[in-house]
Amino acid sequence: EDEAGQAYFDKIIAEDSRIEPADWMPEKYRKTLTRQMSQHAHSEIIGMQPEANWITRAPSLKRKAILMAKVQDEAGHGLYLYSATETLGTPRHVLNEQLMSGKAKYSSIFNYPANSWADMGAIGWLVDGAAIANQVPLCRASYGPYGRAMVRICKEESFHQRQGFEILLELANGTPAQKQMAQDAVNRFYAPALMMFGPTDTDSPNSQQSMAWNIKRFSNDELRSRFVGMIQEQVKVLGLTLPDDQIRYNEETGLWEHGELNWDEFYEVLAGRGPCNAQRMERRREAHENGAWVREAAAAYAAKKAQKAQV
Ligand code: ACO
Repeated sequence: EDEAGQAYFDKIIAEDSRIEPADWMPEKYRKTLTRQMSQHAHSEIIGMQPEANWITRAPSLKRKAILMAKVQDEAGHGLYLYSATETLGTPRHVLNEQLMSGKAKYSSIFNYPANSWADMGAIGWLVDGAAIANQVPLCRASYGPYGRAMVRICKEESFHQRQGFEILLELANGTPAQKQMAQDAVNRFYAPALMMFGPTDTDSPNSQQSMAWNIKRFSNDELRSRFVGMIQEQVKVLGLTLPDDQIRYNEETGLWEHGELNWDEFYEVLAGRGPCNAQRMERRREAHENGAWVREAAAAYAAKKAQKAQV
């Protein structure tokens, strides 16, 4: 049976078609997707924190409403992705335990602090911009539920990216102090945003297999290069600069090059020793504990409904 399953799986991948939850799939394919998708879900949930931090301090009612909507979108993306991950067989509470015990990773970027209002702009422009560059190709991922989830998520991310750009544009055209605040935010978020794409291709253990399975369509470095090309153009509209004097287009390779990134810092953040890791995890655990009554009520309600259905 496995042989027939494997043959079917290979055919689907070769045709660049889609694997669905009930289809046979190699255990390693299931495992790598569960890892990537759950890490993605955790990132959305932890990613709510740096921005939630600014909801009460947004400079106007309109900005506050927009920021609240964005943070809610991220909660939605997380829940959507947990549901998609569950179709691979790991229940939500197990995924959640993996996050809270520190066993599962989430994106490095959310371990950096959001110090000023301009950071809401830099996060929208650079962080959500990097997320889009990474996630648009994932809309074609070979696993159906993941690819479909990405379509909707990317649409919302595009709105997030534009609202961030617009915050920076307004600050950049404001007083000299406001412009400086915008520049400072861009300076701090530039390198961590580039690291979101993951280690360089030579240090990315999962890329080759994930590309062979049509989960990833481009390598980490290819996507990072494409992103640098986009933002080096957009930053001109802002009248700001990127803190990297080594950005250049390589005619031969067709790739955008950038300055060396601090990979020691990246691995420190992944190991839980970034500027905000401890705080992010503590908040997540607190929120989970405070939400216990909601889960209990939902379970009691479901049990009551099931009992009624039996009568
Ligand atoms: N932050 C934290 N962990 C990372 C990061 C990062 N920026 N980049 C890579 N890693 C981890 C990988 O998960 C992998 O972990 P492992 O020990 O479980 O194997 C390890 O570092 C080695 O990296 P790769 O072999 O390159 O891993 P992979 O092929 O999975 O590529 C990538 C990493 C590009 C992040 C991929 O998983 C992906 O595209 N994920 C979906 C997008 C996503 O998760 N975005 C979250 C941030 S965007 C947002 O939420 C708004």
